[in-house]
Formats: sequence, C-alpha cells, structure tokens
Amino acid sequence: MWKTSPFSSYWLNAVFLWAGGTGCIFSAGSYHSNKNEPGSPFFALKPGTHPQSSVRPVTELPRINISHTAILSYNQQIYLYLRFHKNKFSMLDLAATKVHDEARQGEQFAPFKNDPNSYGKRFYIESYGCQMNFADSEVVAAILNKEGFGATRNVEEADLIFINTCSIREKAEQTVRKRLTDFKKFKTGKPGTLIGVLGCMAERLKSKFLEEEKLVDIVVGPDAYRSLPRLVDEANDGQKSVNVLLSREETYADIAPVRLNSNGVSAFVSIMRGCNNMCSFCVVPFTRGRERSRDSESIINECRDLFEQGYKEVTLLGQNVDSYHYIPGNGTEANAVSFANLLEQVALISPELRVRFSTSHPKDITDDVLHTMAAYENICKCIHLPVQSGSTRVLQLMNRTYTREWYMKKVDRIRELLPGCSITSDIIAGFCTETDQDHQDTLSIMDYSNYVYGYMFYYSERPGTLAQRRYQDDVPLEVKKQRLQEIIEKQNQLSLADYKKDIGQTYKVLIDGDSKRSNEQWVGRNSQNKVVIFPKQENGQHKKGDYVQVLINDCTQATLFGEIV
Ligand code: 5AD
Ligand code: SF4
Repeated sequence: MWKTSPFSSYWLNAVFLWAGGTGCIFSAGSYHSNKNEPGSPFFALKPGTHPQSSVRPVTELPRINISHTAILSYNQQIYLYLRFHKNKFSMLDLAATKVHDEARQGEQFAPFKNDPNSYGKRFYIESYGCQMNFADSEVVAAILNKEGFGATRNVEEADLIFINTCSIREKAEQTVRKRLTDFKKFKTGKPGTLIGVLGCMAERLKSKFLEEEKLVDIVVGPDAYRSLPRLVDEANDGQKSVNVLLSREETYADIAPVRLNSNGVSAFVSIMRGCNNMCSFCVVPFTRGRERSRDSESIINECRDLFEQGYKEVTLLGQNVDSYHYIPGNGTEANAVSFANLLEQVALISPELRVRFSTSHPKDITDDVLHTMAAYENICKCIHLPVQSGSTRVLQLMNRTYTREWYMKKVDRIRELLPGCSITSDIIAGFCTETDQDHQDTLSIMDYSNYVYGYMFYYSERPGTLAQRRYQDDVPLEVKKQRLQEIIEKQNQLSLADYKKDIGQTYKVLIDGDSKRSNEQWVGRNSQNKVVIFPKQENGQHKKGDYVQVLINDCTQATLFGEIV
C-alpha cells in the first residue's frame, strides 16, 4: 500500500507531474473538481519501471495535506520525498534503496574529457557491484586507452563491449546475465563486435562463461587486466580468450586510472586488493584473491596529483583497508606503513583535501586509526563498520571473528575518541540457522550502534563459499525477506531520528555540484557523509569544489536541507 507521511497544514491542490531520476517512475497529483475544494491526491507508478510495476498500483489515497516534507513509501520502503515550500511542491529526492551503490549499477563510462585524439576503435564498459569494481573499470579504461581505444557511452558505436561484473549475491549475477542478452543484439547487428566479461563473475565462472554465453569472446579476472590488449588481439583473430589468473602481487600501482563520470571533486583511490578474511558467506576471497597492499608512495602521489588537478576529496578503497600493510623497497618490518600512517600521509597533502576510506573490518580498525582521524580535521568523520549480524552465535558461523559485545565496545571506543562520527553498516538477514532471537539481536545492535545508514541484504548462498559447503541455507525466503524488511524499517527510523538531530547545526559542506532537481541549488556532503542541499547564493560566488558553512533547517531520512551562513 502506498503511504505518505507526515501530515499537516497545507492542502495539495494542483495537478503536478514529474519525471524522476533517469526515467519517469512516479507521477502524482490531486484530483479536484472545484478550485476551492482540494481533491484526493494520487500517486502512480509508471509501468515498466519497477519490479512491482506489472500490478500497476495506482492508488487513490485519502485526502492529505502536507507541509514541509512528505514521504512516499511502498511496502515500508521509502521511494520518494516531496516538499512543500513557498507554495510549490517539489520532489526532493528519489530515495535509493539502501543497497550497495545501487544508484551506480550499470553505469557506463563517459568518453574521455577534452581528448583531442580521434580513435579508430571504441570501447564501451558498464560496471556493477562495489566501489572497487568502479575503480577497476578506470584502470581498464587507462589500459585500453594506452592501446589506442577511445571510450564511448553509446554501446551501438562500440567495437568492444565490456561488462565489469559482481558475484556477491545471486541477484547481481542475474542482472549481468540479463544485460548480456541485450548486448547480443548489438553483436548480431554489427558482427565483429567483441564482448568481454570482466571482474568477479569472470573469475568465478572462468571458461564456463564461454560455454554458457556463446556470444562472449573474452573473459578476464580482476588481476589480469594488463593482458587485455593481447586478449583483444586474440579475439579479433577469432580465438576466444580467457585470463583469470589471480596474483599475489598485482595492485596496478603504476597505472594512472582514467577518471570517468567523475564530478571533478571526489575520486576513488584503490590502496589494496583482495581479502584474506574468509567470512563464510562471502565469495570475494575466491574472486579477488589474496590480500595485497599497494605501494604507499604511488598512493600518495596519485592523491597529490588528484589534488593538483582540482579534486577535493579522495576515498581510499579496499575490501579491508585497516589491514593495509606495506613495506617500501628493501625495507624491513620496522619500515612498514600501516593504514594509520598512510591515512596521515594522505591527510598531510593539504588541509583542503578531504580523506575518506572504506571498508573497515571491526576486528582490524585500531586506536591508531581513530587517533589519526581525530588529529586531522580533513579526515572525514564517518566509518563504515559492517556488523553483518548482532548475534554472537551467527557471527561465529559467519567467521567474523568478533562477538556482539566486542563490536559494541568498538562502537563505544569510536564514540569516545570521535564524538559526532557517523557509523554505517552492512547487515545480512537470514543467514544459515538464524533464529528469531538472533534477528532480534541484530535489530538491537542497530539501535545500540545508531547507524546513520546501512546496506542491507538477505543472505544469498554463493557457490564455493565456506557457508555453502558447511551449512544449510535453511531460513525460508519469505522469512529472510520479512526480517530484511524489519531491518530496513529499523534503519529508516534510526536515520530519520539522526538526521533530525542535525537541524539547527552548522556544517562545513564540500559542494559536489548542482542538485539533481534544480540548478538553483547546490548538493554537497558534510564530514559525516550526509548529503546536504541548499540554495545557491544570488551573487554566484561559490562553485563546485568549494567548502561552505551550511545551517541545517530541514531534513528527510537521507538528506539535510539548509542555507549558506
Ligand atoms: N549474501 C548476502 N549478502 C552478502 N554480502 C556478502 N556476501 C553476501 C551474501 N552471500 C554483503 C555483506 C558485505 C557486503 C559487501 O555484501 O554484508 O559486507
Ligand atoms: Fe567478504 Fe568478509 Fe572479505 Fe568483506 S571482509 S570482502 S565480507 S570475506
């Protein structure tokens, strides 16, 4: 059932429609026969744009009156925020379902900016999954560009079509399979086009991919991108090519990634690859291989170059950044660079350069890291600290190596050393053997940790993982879904309560650019990584990449609103 909330003083009395996000997904309005008599607002979901769209739920709501912010939700998921301001309604925000980088899934590369070269051959690449995959696509672009390939956003004009894939959940793989069927038509229409599968799914399925997906020509795992030019040559000669060798050394340290689809303000910098943790549900150690840290000097140089090019924010990326450990040159353990050291060195590039990082494993984040964060204003006060479950018994089965109490103490320590730091999380509902009590423990640890937001999933069994080999996936799908729903609901409440507390506060905000809804407004983020929207000043004195002080005067559960002070 569609719902809106909250209610109060203004009657919505005009028909209005809008396009949301990349396609029109909602329309809304109010039926009224008499100008003075407000009618019943309606909200309609445009067919074909949502999984539930086949039912076309065009719901007549009871008459509502709305002031400030109204939230449109369906099945307890919030989809859309509306705002009544200065006698106008506007759509504030399309609430992305809180799933890892959902808004970026399937994003294509933009052509190289201001590139004077003309290219005989062009590649198209689409990325799925985590931030690491998006960063890897930038490495792939750099490798292909060096070989004389230009990038295109238009798949129809591409000679090479790449899809950088994710295996983390079954649904991610299904999305890729479906997308491959779309690519087949381009290949049929333009013989000679090559289709390549990159990333985790390539690594997991290896040459099976070529058997299962006949139109795929190239299969390349995350550690083998340097061999792409050779594999493309082989495929051009009619040979299907696979390279899924994992490496203990490859970090692509010397490759300057081509920044694509970047706003020119923030960039991702990969600092390590792979993962040794072996969480029992996770396929990453199998698809991305052993953990290895990238040369610290190359990281610092890359961050410095970015700053010199005008970037104002870098996010240091790795599956488990807190176990970063690099011994330079012929050094010994005594010269080892830890994550805290690296963080400090990046922060020292300039106080004007913001530094973020992701992801932290609770077992590895040290007091040193927290002290370093406290010592530098430009290290953002936001820690992604996935809990996965609130039950010690389930955590043990997950091989997370900490207990509920240990995690809670880590949260206490963060609060003690970094008051005001936001904590975010990943949570899995319905892992093997999870009981109702375990689920309640997850809900209560969410309350305890007061997450600002969370990426929430139900458990999806992955072939080859420890859990798949050892445990039975015995929580029925409906129960998993129901528990996930309760977790999402809990997170929505926590987020809204937390954002409300920001009203009246003033934050330093880095301007990312125009807000999606209006070029009269800026969108930016504060240190806690909360999105802030505020009107531009009339004298036009600010530009994207500037820092401004913003007084918060309103919020939804995902966005703060304010004014420059
Ligand atoms: N099922 C559901 N969620 C998973 N994740 C990893 N593996 C699985 C799985 N098999 C989630 C974890 C991890 C995030 C990146 O994805 O929460 O932190
Ligand atoms: Fe997967 Fe665990 Fe490694 Fe994260 S820390 S990538 S969940 S194995």
